[in-house]
Amino acid sequence: MTDSLTIRDNRTGVEYDLPITDGTIRAADLGKIKAEDEAPGLAVYDPGFVNTASCRSAVTYIDGDKGILEYRGYPIEQLAESSNFLEVAYLLIHGELPSQAEHDEWVHQITYHTFVHENVKSFMQGFRYDAHPMGMLMASVGALSTFYPDARNIHDADNRNIQVIRMIAKMPTLGAWSFRHAQGKPYVYPDNDLSYTANFLSMLFKMSESKFDADPRLVKALDTLFILHADHEQNCSANAVRSVGSSQVDPYSAVSAGIGALFGPLHGGANEAVLRMLKRIGTKSEIPAFIEGVKNGNERLMGFGHRVYKNYDPRAKIIKQQALNVFEVTGTNPLLEIALELEKIALEDEYFVKRRLYPNVDFYSGLIYEAFQFPPEMFTVLFAIGRTPGWLAQWLELVQDPEQKIARPKQIYTGARTLDFTPASQRWS
Ligand code: CMC
Repeated sequence: MTDSLTIRDNRTGVEYDLPITDGTIRAADLGKIKAEDEAPGLAVYDPGFVNTASCRSAVTYIDGDKGILEYRGYPIEQLAESSNFLEVAYLLIHGELPSQAEHDEWVHQITYHTFVHENVKSFMQGFRYDAHPMGMLMASVGALSTFYPDARNIHDADNRNIQVIRMIAKMPTLGAWSFRHAQGKPYVYPDNDLSYTANFLSMLFKMSESKFDADPRLVKALDTLFILHADHEQNCSANAVRSVGSSQVDPYSAVSAGIGALFGPLHGGANEAVLRMLKRIGTKSEIPAFIEGVKNGNERLMGFGHRVYKNYDPRAKIIKQQALNVFEVTGTNPLLEIALELEKIALEDEYFVKRRLYPNVDFYSGLIYEAFQFPPEMFTVLFAIGRTPGWLAQWLELVQDPEQKIARPKQIYTGARTLDFTPASQRWS
């Protein structure tokens, strides 16, 4: 067997042999295929990059048919069960698990960079009272580039490292403050005695008590959710970070672009839609009628189905278990019963079985977030905090990859050509 592809151009009768490497051909090789010497070479048309590899990456592996998700080779189930978010962040950033000394230094560094410049606080306080927390997060992460102008020195490894630490450390501070802002509550400063996730809960919910003491089961549940969201290879926001980062801008600007991508309802917003759907269904007795409506094509069962996972979404199973743990603390959410029944019926129904539709990561996460008393606008902020190490791992890979270039796709031009311009004074007279 030869690892090559023979293409015959029927316009010219010429045959071309293109090498196949890692299951791909180089799009640039297609450029050699020309109808005439002076004509542009053949290109691929791929809106949404549905079948285009944009990079080589060693960060995250997904096998959608088998329901496998691995960070740096470690199965998500094992990381969710036995690791913690900061260790997973180290793994994503550095490519391997830390030694005890590396771990302690990493946690120390992240912990002591949680504070932000006071002017960041005044900047955030300038937002309108009802500002969306994702807009606040996106803007304040972008603004950090003005506080750390050295971050533009992206070719220096030590410099990259300090920005990575700063960003992972400060994201919960900015996320929590965007939450407090909407509530008209004072911003709470980080408490460096607490773990990463316990400190985040403290900045979110602390009032007059001297120390905020979160239930360890809630801390574990949120920490696990961060792990599950930490990376998902070349998704829309990772692609945005890479695309913007490919101009060699600083990482705050690139991650801010990623937050913008995540803000969109097709990316980070589905868990909110699940919650709205469950509320609308209201009682178990309404489920059969709802399912009939879905099967008749009236609407979708939100939180079901995935572009990549066609067997099951491994994150959904873990989240379901965490939801049960959280409800032990907060009391059950009446919507859980509806969700469980909906899942049971859908998994047995031929419509869903035939189309390989299973619960995805968003089916139960909204229920957990609601149990924490987060308003729906905060759901995507939580996603962004979890995704930050993934964005940064993708960015680090990008800036060190000699094959990468500034992202600049081609287009198929469909507009007019060579028109004669008539000045406005003549067109309007
Ligand atoms: N409910 C009912 N039918 C569905 C659903 C659903 N949730 N998802 C897909 N289908 C049907 C669809 O109508 C189509 O049927 P037919 O072949 O008869 O036309 C078939 O299944 C294939 O659907 P598709 O739209 O071609 O699949 P896709 O891979 O383009 O879409 C999806 C993937 C996630 C957008 C879609 O399954 C969906 O809209 N799900 C609901 C929204 C949701 O939960 N999104 C969260 C995704 S996970 C978060 C993340 O990782 O970013």
